[in-house]
Amino acid sequence: MSTQLKTKNSKLKTPAVPPRWRNEVERILITDAQLARRVKTLAAEIEKDFRGRETVVISLLSGTVMFLADLIRHLNLPLRLDFIGVSSYGAGTESGELVFTKELRLDVRGRDVLLVDDILDTGKTLSRVLPKIRALKPRRIKTCVLLDKPARRVENIRADYVGFAIPDLFVVGYGLDFAERYRNLPFVGVLHPHVYKKPTGAILKNKPPSHQA
Ligand code: IMP
Ligand code: MG
Repeated sequence: MSTQLKTKNSKLKTPAVPPRWRNEVERILITDAQLARRVKTLAAEIEKDFRGRETVVISLLSGTVMFLADLIRHLNLPLRLDFIGVSSYGAGTESGELVFTKELRLDVRGRDVLLVDDILDTGKTLSRVLPKIRALKPRRIKTCVLLDKPARRVENIRADYVGFAIPDLFVVGYGLDFAERYRNLPFVGVLHPHVYKKPTGAILKNKPPSHQA
């Protein structure tokens, strides 16, 4: 149910990165118009599957901020919204230990749950969060991610709804960050490797030392 990016063979030229961000962002991977279109169709898919059910949307902080806001305004469902805070702290390495910074408050027992995250990468985050929610005995849990990087997966996990499957690139914008920056960009862009290069010149393969999930 995901959408492969068609930017490569598309006749439409991807717009240039705005001058303000050109030093840090290499290129635009997904434009704001492509995001808007896909979020709408994704919401339609979800709405069809959840019709008639009161839904609890659980969103992982903070990368989902823009995606979530756009997605739920297209969801014509009676829903309640809650957040789980997860941070991954690693000593300069990728996918460090996960720390919960905010717990769920709403009761989800017997409810239909839609778990929303920004990007499914190694799968470690979702594979830690899902058992926690399952333990609260919801009727069912469906997972929805804006982006999926299947090439990086280490856990046997897939999302029920995927906005775009993307290649193994570190991306920022539309809520996604590097070291808490770039969440405000209206597009998804590829970060210049020099931004996450260590002073030694070594490149952090994927994640920065401290990363708000
Ligand atoms: P996972 O636990 O490896 O699946 O990673 C999930 C989390 O890592 C996401 O919610 C993001 O916060 C972060 N992440 C993974 N890849 C990227 C990326 O390309 N850009 C920004 N954040 C990312
Ligand atoms: Mg995240």
